[in-house]
Amino acid sequence: MAINMSMMALKWTRRAILKTLGFMGTTSLAIGVYKYMEKTPKILLPEPSKDGNISVERAIANRRSIRRFKSQPIGLNQLSQLLWAAQGVTDTRGFRASPSAGALYPLEIFIVVGEVEGLNEGVYHYDAEGCTLEIHRAGDLRPELASASTLNQTWIKDAPIILVICAIYERTTSKYGSRGERYVHMEAGHVGENIYLQAESLGLACTVIGAFLDDEVLRIIDVGEKNEPLYLIPIGNPS
Ligand SMILES: Cc1cc2nc3c(=O)[nH]c(=O)nc-3n(C[C@H](O)[C@H](O)[C@H](O)COP(=O)(O)O)c2cc1C
Repeated sequence: MAINMSMMALKWTRRAILKTLGFMGTTSLAIGVYKYMEKTPKILLPEPSKDGNISVERAIANRRSIRRFKSQPIGLNQLSQLLWAAQGVTDTRGFRASPSAGALYPLEIFIVVGEVEGLNEGVYHYDAEGCTLEIHRAGDLRPELASASTLNQTWIKDAPIILVICAIYERTTSKYGSRGERYVHMEAGHVGENIYLQAESLGLACTVIGAFLDDEVLRIIDVGEKNEPLYLIPIGNPS
């Protein structure tokens, strides 16, 4: 095992504490990602930095969708930073890096890992509250995932990681009805832009992808039917 995976899930998690203190809506907690995750070993991510190398204005000015990557792993600290920018908890009340209608947080992030220093290949889930990863499937699934895209986007498999942004719609529609669906899509957009800007600041490259076969992506990452994939985001060092 490339990394110490001995940190087992704590019964009294940050999530449970926040829930007890009433800081988070109960709906998002009740509609979980999938049941057995609470029992899987957790990989503690490096602490993300709150300072970057470039200004937010420079990141906005420089940001581009880039589809060519070097064959070079990214660091675990870079992965941690990207995930934090997407969904990290940034407030003691449980609020996150990206805004969310009603603070219901319908999005879940899965990471298809090919080349990350210290991490085995596989599909991982990001636990935003615990700042941890849980492995869900082993093996290099990048080529299969690339073939689930449409428009012949084979370049996807060259990225060291591919983030899969999924939504559990019920978390939001249970409060806002069908209008909640548009809120969920808006939130995926916020996450996508945060990832673009964080990647730019880290000197990494990415592109958001909407053209793929939903059922195929779900079959490959195999994370249960409640998770509906909205974005694939390949990320790596630009070539
Ligand atoms: C909702 C959405 C879906 C997209 N889907 C794809 C895609 O499937 N493949 C791709 O190569 N780029 C995709 N893009 C990226 C756009 O092609 C890109 O943003 C556009 O060409 C403008 O370039 P820029 O991002 O460098 O400004 C998508 C962008 C958005 C916002």
